[in-house]
Parts: sequence; structure tokens; C-alpha cells
Amino acid sequence: MTTPARATTAARTTPARATPARTTTARRIAVIGAGPGGLYFAALAKRLAPHREITVFERDGREDEFGFGVVFSDETLDGIAQADPEVFAAIGAEFARWSDIDVRYAGEVRTCGGHGFAALDRNRLRAILQRRCEQLAVDVRYRTPAPAADRLAAEYDLVVAADGIHSGTRAAYADTFRPDLDERHCRYIWLATDKVFEAFTFIVERFDFGTLQVHAYPYSATRSTFIVEIAEDAWRRAGFDALAALAAREPSRGESDEASVRRCADLLAGHLDGHRLIPNASRWIRFTTVRNARWRHRNVVLLGDAAHSAHFSIGSGTKLALEDALALAASLHEQPSLEQALAAYEAERRPVVESTQRAAQASLEWFETVERRTGQGADRFAFNLLTRSRRVTYGNLRARDPGFVDAVDAAAGGPPGVPPMFRPLKLGTLELRNRVVVPPLATFTSADTLPSGFDRAQLTGHALGGAGLVLAGMAAVSPGGRATDRCPGLWNDRQEAAWRELVDAVRAVSDTAVGLQLTHAGRRGATAAPGPDGIGRPLADGWPLLAASPLPWGPDSPAPHAATAAQLATVVADFAEAAERAARAGFDALELQFGHGHLLSGFLSPLTNHRTDRYGGRLAHRLRLPLEVLAAVRAAWPAGRPLLVRISACDWAPGGTTAPEAVTIGRALADGGADAVDVSTGEVVAHQRPPYGRGYQTPFAELIRAATGLPTIAVGAISGHDDANSVLLAGRADLVAIGRAQLYDPLWTLHAAAEQGYTGPGAHWPGPWSAGSRRPPGPNADRVAPRLHLLTEPAAPVHRRWPPPAPEPH
Ligand SMILES: Cc1cc2nc3c(=O)[nH]c(=O)nc-3n(C[C@H](O)[C@H](O)[C@H](O)COP(=O)(O)OP(=O)(O)OC[C@H]3O[C@@H](n4cnc5c(N)ncnc54)[C@H](O)[C@@H]3O)c2cc1C
Ligand SMILES: Cc1cc2nc3c(=O)[nH]c(=O)nc-3n(C[C@H](O)[C@H](O)[C@H](O)COP(=O)(O)O)c2cc1C
Repeated sequence: MTTPARATTAARTTPARATPARTTTARRIAVIGAGPGGLYFAALAKRLAPHREITVFERDGREDEFGFGVVFSDETLDGIAQADPEVFAAIGAEFARWSDIDVRYAGEVRTCGGHGFAALDRNRLRAILQRRCEQLAVDVRYRTPAPAADRLAAEYDLVVAADGIHSGTRAAYADTFRPDLDERHCRYIWLATDKVFEAFTFIVERFDFGTLQVHAYPYSATRSTFIVEIAEDAWRRAGFDALAALAAREPSRGESDEASVRRCADLLAGHLDGHRLIPNASRWIRFTTVRNARWRHRNVVLLGDAAHSAHFSIGSGTKLALEDALALAASLHEQPSLEQALAAYEAERRPVVESTQRAAQASLEWFETVERRTGQGADRFAFNLLTRSRRVTYGNLRARDPGFVDAVDAAAGGPPGVPPMFRPLKLGTLELRNRVVVPPLATFTSADTLPSGFDRAQLTGHALGGAGLVLAGMAAVSPGGRATDRCPGLWNDRQEAAWRELVDAVRAVSDTAVGLQLTHAGRRGATAAPGPDGIGRPLADGWPLLAASPLPWGPDSPAPHAATAAQLATVVADFAEAAERAARAGFDALELQFGHGHLLSGFLSPLTNHRTDRYGGRLAHRLRLPLEVLAAVRAAWPAGRPLLVRISACDWAPGGTTAPEAVTIGRALADGGADAVDVSTGEVVAHQRPPYGRGYQTPFAELIRAATGLPTIAVGAISGHDDANSVLLAGRADLVAIGRAQLYDPLWTLHAAAEQGYTGPGAHWPGPWSAGSRRPPGPNADRVAPRLHLLTEPAAPVHRRWPPPAPEPH
């Protein structure tokens, strides 16, 4: 933070300079809203081109105050420092700074240091920006609601709509912007307190009505922000709804829900040490995530909360507004035309905003579902909370505060110095040397339904690559159960012998545990192997398909037959027979495919099971066929050898499997003898809309593990070892499956060991390759850097609290 050298946004590397304007675009600019976004934009745009006329319309008064503190990270401050050193100096003088995060939970406190925060009063920030605008001769008109956007658009070259989360401009051009307003499930109330917290403080407190959580941080020598958040149903049970209704009876602008504030103060008295809760127009509200398909309409552009919002639990709304302002001012300066400037602004900001919104979404969902984790011990809970957005990881935290991570490791029973991914696990009687799984990765290279040479090469390669368990891609239990005409099967002696040979080949070079996935593809069968023309194209000369209900997968797919009771009995018998064959072939583990829209998945999902017999209807009935298959396989598969089941825990389509249903399915699988559930999602219906992103399926593994105690395998976009360690240490899953990343690098696990400096039994280098077990030197390995500083700055202490200790008297 002390070296303001870095630009905030990834795309912007050249420092902004107050050069004479070389652009004639946007000479007259109207800004709607004098929040931090509007003011900062106006100041920067004027600074870059002083001849511009900039008018800011603000409906509130100059002195009107709303809200309390805002918190920034070091990165944002670097951007502000570089763009306008005067503003930076002014706000820098007011900062409360600290580096610790305290997690108060179940009567205990856990502290993690090394984070680097700075906060200040939101109203002071506004005052500084107001003053800066005055210095630069920006015309800010307070108590002046903006004229209609159409009128402004006709009168000015550019209209910047910085009119906040309820933006009227966004509504006026909704056809172009296509806003998506996602109102979330929790209630929150934004307060301050005169208790000065020493660090960013999360409080998670359980009551008979549910869990209350607090996001608190200091922002001056006398105040802290104090946001209380609670799930809607707990809010009602706590009686807050009645208090809020009472407060709403005599609503006047700026009034607070005093009764709720008093109740919060009572409930949280143990954390306030006699201090007050201070409201300012504070009422219970629900957070709305704002997204827009477009941010610009002719010469009107959205900025800040009007364009996007990010949940306060990652403290980034003001940061995003300021970064938008910086990028828009710079784009106007750099681009030859207004149209190009607005396009460049959106192109630069959208990916940054979307990435922040993904982190914010993960964080808000974590708090919405906090009760999933309230069974965890204090150390693990704190680690889980800190890694909730998936941006902060095991590795980040270890670098910031190794003592904190060591303590969490120790509390989780981990031996010192062994990364979580390299700890052993016993599944049934099978000992896995580490927590990495190669999930089923079909090769679609089979001729005559036999595993191919490529299957052998892939399985062998992955077994040598160091994972604890390697699963072969799907094998069909019957000819009609194949997904494609290039899939192998396991229903006859030739296939069994071929798989046996393949397992023997792997065993000849590796002792890695090897498993097989069995499936009946149901209505997803009879397709061509994936290729340049796409995935799941129906074969012209396919075979009859079987499914729960006669619903084709896609518009070009043939309709399957709704399976008869006799056909279902055959399916059960086919799975059992294939399991016996897999055992004889020597597999250590078996996985049943109950997900991805295959036959058994089709029975589980309400979207694809419309049956009216004993296999359809409510979930207990939809579970019948999968549980019959599980029981038959469990009986056929040797006791002690692990039996895994893959499910789609969510269909990503309205009316699909719900989270409580996923838990019920997990519990039924545990009762039915599954040793672990491999928690995937989607591919159940073609019209799914999954929110792909880092670790996006992991919350479902965590949900099922927490609710049922059944070990889970997390899978899906977990590509780095850091993510794997985070998932495991947070207790979100017992194993992590890494798919495409192990296609990219079949030695992924061994390379992860080398990168983490781990050389223990959890990472076994094949003997003949041991000479390569250390990371090769990079291209600059022989370059030794000279000393470039006279004196090296001492490293910042890991733990810094607020306020800083008073200096020693001389
Ligand atoms: C509970 C809570 C906690 C938060 N905590 C943090 C935090 O810790 N850190 C952080 O960075 N952010 C935080 N935020 C978010 C932050 O307050 C906003 O993201 C930020 O203020 C957005 O700035 P903005 O300029 O886009 O909009 P705003 O600050 O909302 O400003 C919009 C302005 O436009 C004006 N306006 C609207 N319509 C008109 C009109 N028609 N004519 C004239 N004027 C108009 C409004 O009066 C307002 O002044 C928090 C938000 C909430 C709700
Ligand atoms: C080439 C390929 C083949 C796959 N084959 C199967 C399969 O046979 N059975 C299955 O359940 N999933 C299959 N999957 C899905 C993976 O097992 C895994 O769930 C998915 O790739 C997400 O993990 P990742 O993000 O780590 O790749 C396949 C994925 C790929 C990329």
C-alpha cells in the first residue's frame, strides 16, 4: 500500500497523466448521482481534460450523511494512488488500517493476520471527493434531482448514470441494459457502533431462532461498521418481522427501525462490551445483486452500483465504483471517439466486475447457508469462512499467516508439513495414499465395445501421475446402455477379459488404486462420440433408448421409451452382473453413474421422471430404482471394496432437484451402502444454465457431507493444488476429483507435490522417473539479482490491530 505503483485493473498499465486533452469527444458531460462513483469520475475526467464542462446532479444535500464505513484492500488503494495522488493523500490521512481478521464463533475467537485493510467513513470519502470536484471546477448541483435521462442525453455529449443500486436511468433504458436484479434470501441491517473493533470481525452466533452473523470493522478512532445479517426464516422466528412491520407503519425518509436495533443490541451485547449500536436510516433489507446485459445505450453509460453490485461480505461495492470511474475517465481520454471509449470501458471493466461478482456470489451463498458449517470446530470454521469466496486459498493464507494455517491443520488432525491433499484416506478397506481422484474421463476410442489402447495408456498414465484413486471412464452395463458407439461395455466375457488385462497392465507399473464407472446412459445414449461437430449428436443408426419418461434429450434426439417394470428389473440385474465382472477384473473401486442425465439420474430428477407408477412421483419413489441398483451392486461387489456413486446434486433448471432433495439422496445412498458420493451437477436437461466457475459444484459436496456424514468427492473446475487443499482443509469434501487439469498434465499430482516441496508417502514418484522428481530450473535460474535497495524495508508484521499502539513516551 505504501508503494502506489500498481494500476488497479489488470488491463490498465500506463499511468494516467494530466495531459492537455487531445480528444474533442464528451466535452459536455452530465453525471447523475454524487456518490463515490459519480464524484470520482467527474474529478478524474475533469483533471484529464480541464476544458470539459461536467455537471453532477445529486438529489440529496451536500451535507446529507448516509451509511458508515467503507473498507478497501491494498489493490484498490494502489489504483487510487496512481490516478489521483491528491485524493489518495486526503483519504490516506483518514484511514483506519489493520491486518487481522477475527472470527468469533461458538464462544471462541480465531485470528488470521497478514491481510492489509484500510477503511474510512463513507461520508468522509464523499466529502473528500466533493472537495476535489470543487477544486477542479466540476459543477455539482445538490438537492437537484437529475432531469430525465432522455433530456440529458439530448443536451449533453455523455450521460454517466452513477445513480446507485436503484438506478432510475437503468430502469428508463431497461430494454437496452436488460438488468437482472437478484434479490437474495438473507435480511441485513447496516449499523455502526461506538465500540472500536481492533480488526475485521466476523461474529457468528447461534440462538434458538437460528444464526445471526455480523460483519464488523473499524473505520475511525471512534466508530466501527456493524452489519447484522440473518436468514429470512430465522428473522421471522426471531420476531424481527413484527418489529419491522411496526417501524414501517410510520415511515419517513431517513428513519430507522429502532426496535430492531435495540433487539440486535440485546442479542449481541456480549460482543459490544456496553457500547451502543448507532443507526442511520437503518432498516432490514435484502441484498440485490445487480447485473446488466449491457452497460451503455447510445451516449448513456452505467457506472458503479447502477451497473453492478457485489455483496458487502467481500466489501467491494465502493471499490468497484471507483475502479469504474477510473476506467471510464481513462477510456474517454485514450479513445478517438465516444463510441469507442464507451466500448473500451465496458470491455475493460466487465470481466473484472464479473470475476468479483462470482466471488461475491460464493461469499453471499456461504453466509446464506452458514448453518451447514455450524457443526465445525472453531479452527476449521474460521478457515472455511476465510476461504468462502474461493479467491482466498490455503496457499494465500499460509503466505499471510502460517501460524493460523498450522493451527487449523493441527486441529484437523493433519501431520505438520503435509499439505491436506497428501493425507491418506481409508474408504472401505482401501487405503488411498492421498486425496486426489482422477474422475471418470471417457476416451470414446473403443472399437467393438472393448477398452481401447488409448484407455490403457490413459489409465496407466494417470496411475503413474500420482493421484490416490484413478477411475476409468464410463463402461455400459448393456449394449443399449452405451452413451456413444465408441464407448466400452462390461456385459460379456470378452470385455471382462479386456478390462482384466488393462488392470494388470496398470498394476505392472503402479500400485495406485484403480476403479471403474458403470453406467446405463438412458436417454443420453446412441450418440456419436464427441468431436469437432459437437457433443451428444444423435447417431443416424442408433439403438432404442430407455428412460424414466419418453422425453427426448434435445430437439434432434429420438424419444426414448418409458421403461417397463420388466426392463427395469433387467437393468438392475445388468448392473449387478457388471459389478461382479468388475470385481473379477480386479478393480479396487466401483462408481455408479446416477448423475448427468443417464438412466438412473433420469429417475431421480423431477424434470425427467414423470412416471405415475411406484418409480415416479415424490422423491422417495424416484429413489426406488437407483436404490434397487445400489442394493444389487452392493451385494455383488465385494464387501470392503469401496462403492462410489456419482450424482447430479442440482439440475441448474427451474423445477429440478433441490438442495434438501440432494441431501435426502445422499442420506439414502449412505444407508444403501455407498462409501462416498461423487458430487457433480447438471447435464440432466439440455436447457440447464450452470454458473460455471472456480469450484462451482463444491458447495453441494459440502452440503451433503455436512448433512449426512457421508464422505464426498468434490469435482468441477478445481484445477490448482491450492484449491484442492482449501476444499479439503475447510471440510467441504474428503476427496477432490481433478478432471481436465489431469488431461492437461497427467502428472498433475506429482507436480503439485514438487511445487509444494512435499516428498512424503502421499506422492509416490515412479522409480524409473525419480531423477525427475524435482522441478527443473526455469530459464532465468542462473541469473542472480543484485541488491537494488540501500536498506531493505522490514517485513510488515503479520498481526496489526486498530488503533495502532500509542508511541512509547521518551
Ligand atoms: C450494508 C452495506 C454495506 C456496504 N459496505 C461497503 C464496504 O464496506 N465497502 C465498499 O466498498 N462498499 C460497501 N457498500 C457498497 C457501497 O455503499 C456502494 O457500492 C457504493 O456506494 C456505490 O457507489 P455509487 O457511486 O455507484 O452509488 P451510490 O453511493 O449509491 O450513489 C448514488 C447517488 O446517486 C444519487 N441519485 C440517485 N438517483 C438520482 C437522481 N435521479 N438524481 C440525482 N441524484 C440521484 C443518490 O442520492 C446517491 O447519492 C456497502 C453497501 C451496503 C448496502
Ligand atoms: C473428456 C471427458 C470425458 C468425461 N467422461 C466422463 C465419464 O465417463 N463419466 C462421468 O461421470 N463424467 C465424465 N466426465 C466429467 C468429468 O468426470 C468431470 O466431472 C468434469 O470434467 C468436471 O471436472 P473438471 O472441471 O476437473 O474437468 C468427462 C469429462 C471430460 C472432459
